Amino acid sequence: MRSPRLQRLPGCDAVLTAKGSLVVVGTGIESMGQMTGAARVAIRRAQRVFYLATDPLTAQSVRGLNRRAVSLHGLYEVGRHRLQTYATMTETVLAEVRRGLRVCFVLYGHPGVFAMPAHAAVSIARKEGYRAVMQPGVSADACLIADLGVDPGRNGWQSYEATDFLLRKRKPDPTAGLVLWQIGVVGRIDYVTGPIDREKIALVTEALVRTYPRKHLATLYEASSLPGYPPVIEPVQIGKLHLAKAISPITTLYVPPSKRAPLDKKMRARLGLGPASRVSCLRAREPAAT
Ligand SMILES: C[S@@+](CC[C@H](N)C(=O)[O-])C[C@H]1O[C@@H](n2cnc3c(N)ncnc32)[C@H](O)[C@@H]1O
Repeated sequence: MRSPRLQRLPGCDAVLTAKGSLVVVGTGIESMGQMTGAARVAIRRAQRVFYLATDPLTAQSVRGLNRRAVSLHGLYEVGRHRLQTYATMTETVLAEVRRGLRVCFVLYGHPGVFAMPAHAAVSIARKEGYRAVMQPGVSADACLIADLGVDPGRNGWQSYEATDFLLRKRKPDPTAGLVLWQIGVVGRIDYVTGPIDREKIALVTEALVRTYPRKHLATLYEASSLPGYPPVIEPVQIGKLHLAKAISPITTLYVPPSKRAPLDKKMRARLGLGPASRVSCLRAREPAAT
């Protein structure tokens, strides 16, 4: 009899056996074109597929790749704490891994971006000795970088979940770009339905005007999930953020820098870079900054 294949993965406490495995993949944001080839293969090969999709076309393409695919959307309940829902999702996925099956968990966007059940499933599976991997996917901020023409390497990049941003009094650096996720569901920890809560969004306005001028122009952004449809790109003054019409649960806010970071000439000299090295040319100018 062949001995079981043994392997260690980083962050894994146990020696892995080949039986029961988990692969977590993303669909990308745009329903038809952003799923990677590797994700397609993983979905096809799996004996059990669980998925969370935000639009019918994505759900259809996952089911087209594997007819056994089951949606976990039904686990969301109005009024139920998000963490409870996530724990149930994680356990649903892990139960099949523990039965010795090849399981694929499919989430929208990048499966590791704001996707607590995906990380929990991988980490618990590894601790229990199962092979578990996460594949990268196309996230909303990857689409934002492309659609808004901003480069995180130009001025630096800060990225926060909106509720966390308020609760932990995060202090943004006005010389770097800022991405605020889940702005349309700020302060909500249940499954969100119904209209956005402008009073809660006003708390984000209040926090941002401590760092940025009220008239500083930010962008409300929604990547298109349908091929051929344009993204929503809506300029908004920071001081009027809570009044903006174009805010939904899938809106991401991008705030460009409002100040330039000064160049440390002593450090430039210590790095052996003279004025002739034109280091400022390495950073193209950020569009739309006020
Ligand atoms: C639970 S997170 C999921 C993120 C997703 N896993 C990803 O990789 O982008 C939901 C948040 O992602 C952002 N998001 C999701 N879909 C988006 C879209 N089409 N355009 C812009 N932002 C989006 C919004 O900030 C939204 O509140």
